[in-house]
Amino acid sequence: MFEQATIEADNKAEFYDELGRQLEGLLAGEHNLVANASNCAALIFHAMPDLNWAGFYFLDGGDELVLGPFQGKPACVRIPVGRGVCGSAVARETSILVEDVHAFPGHIACDAASRSELVVPVRRNGRIIGVIDLDSPRVSRFDGDDQAGIERLAEIFAASTAS
Ligand code: SME
Repeated sequence: MFEQATIEADNKAEFYDELGRQLEGLLAGEHNLVANASNCAALIFHAMPDLNWAGFYFLDGGDELVLGPFQGKPACVRIPVGRGVCGSAVARETSILVEDVHAFPGHIACDAASRSELVVPVRRNGRIIGVIDLDSPRVSRFDGDDQAGIERLAEIFAASTAS
């Protein structure tokens, strides 16, 4: 059984170092994409305060994202590349940090409680295969340290699925 330890950290860099270590331990020895995405979403959701959704969307063909494993309320299943925060992150090939979702044109509201959002591309062998999407009920929940931390977790996840 994996016991998720509460993270004691003085700052976000320390927090994400520890969360990264926990993720590496959790995924060690398993390469299955669905299993590892499921555990990654659960670990993030239970470790980070003030989240109402944490999960994955994966590219299905070249122009559409499809819902992957997540924690939170049921969500939109398909998002065209270029639409919403998730599809925009894929189209722009970069992470997107949205301090107030009401101010992001085209934001797709899956849970009316969401007020800020962080979307990070997941790359395998240099190519985007999907995104990690985090939603918070708090405006400006995420900053650059969160972005860097989740980008590192996305790398750990992607490496775990390489066979
Ligand atoms: N808000 C996202 C849609 C996915 S949900 O937040 C889970 C977007 O605009 O792409």
